[in-house]
Amino acid sequence: MSTEHFSATDKLEVTSVVRSSASQVHQPTLESTNNTSVTSVPKSVATSAAKVLLRVTNLRQYYTLEQNFIAQLVSREQQVIKAVDNVSFELYSGQILGLVGESGCGKSTLSRTILQLIRPTSGTVEFEGKDLIQLDKKSLREVRRQIQMVFQDPHACLNPLMMVGDSIADPLFIHKLASHSEAKRKVEEMLERVGLTPVEEYYYRYPGDLSGGQQQRVAIARALITRPSLIICDEPVSMLDASIQTQVLQLMLELKDEFKLTYLFITHDLSVARFFCDAIAVMNKGQIVELKETEELFNKPQHPYTKNLLNAAPLLATQMR
Ligand SMILES: Nc1ncnc2c1ncn2[C@@H]1O[C@H](COP(=O)(O)OP(=O)(O)O)[C@@H](O)[C@H]1O
Ligand SMILES: [Mg+2]
Repeated sequence: MSTEHFSATDKLEVTSVVRSSASQVHQPTLESTNNTSVTSVPKSVATSAAKVLLRVTNLRQYYTLEQNFIAQLVSREQQVIKAVDNVSFELYSGQILGLVGESGCGKSTLSRTILQLIRPTSGTVEFEGKDLIQLDKKSLREVRRQIQMVFQDPHACLNPLMMVGDSIADPLFIHKLASHSEAKRKVEEMLERVGLTPVEEYYYRYPGDLSGGQQQRVAIARALITRPSLIICDEPVSMLDASIQTQVLQLMLELKDEFKLTYLFITHDLSVARFFCDAIAVMNKGQIVELKETEELFNKPQHPYTKNLLNAAPLLATQMR
């Protein structure tokens, strides 16, 4: 039996193990999307030693669409898409915060704006207390070592002409963190850790020779090689079969403890979010409409949009009973 084979019942068992052993969950905070001030931190957080790793405040990302000449004559108004519209939240060190919402609601734009891959229209993004928007290129590069991303499609992110080992080593060279021999040792350790063994064999393979789950393990190894503290995962298991999803998520949970990671976990899949996240932010039309601890969100959704979203997921409704 392949190591990537799990049955549906295995998935449920794993789900309950993980949720019941979930480490300290921090009470999340949400600032109303119309607020301009950051609401106070709930007591449970204020009294604990929890550190805010990432603070996003009133972040906006508006895209202005180029109009053709005729359209400009007809209408003076520019067409603006408010992909991220006044989003504020805090992410605590060690927390897994889910970001859920339908396709097109602005999840990927939010993650790219946090990383400063696109500069925000307005608002601030603080990582470890530093405002990323103010940073010069050199400091921003150092921050990018500490914030890594894992994307939905590993095949698209991995260079098909590069051997797996070299792909994983690449960020070490980009950030000048290791010599070639050190890099090779680190990559071998990481391959072992993400379960791609025998290591000597996988090191010299090409992404095209691997399954989707194995490719995602490579992408995770590549993200972790620079020892980041925050991982932003944008639909990391959406393209994988359910059984393999569970294995990859389980690996990510183990790595979180081992490497002391914090995750911002983007998904449109509520069952994945419920399985994986300590708290969940629900996004709709560029705004976070509700942010709560996972079980509270599922048991006592407040916002009409959250209720609709939960009702639209029949599998979850039966799980909750
Ligand atoms: N580069 C862009 N230019 C213009 N509009 C964009 C661009 N990228 C995304 N959008 C729009 O912004 C909105 C949010 O997109 P996105 O962040 O990809 O959502 P999600 O990841 O939740 O599916 C969508 O309406 C999308 O069409
Ligand atoms: Mg997206």
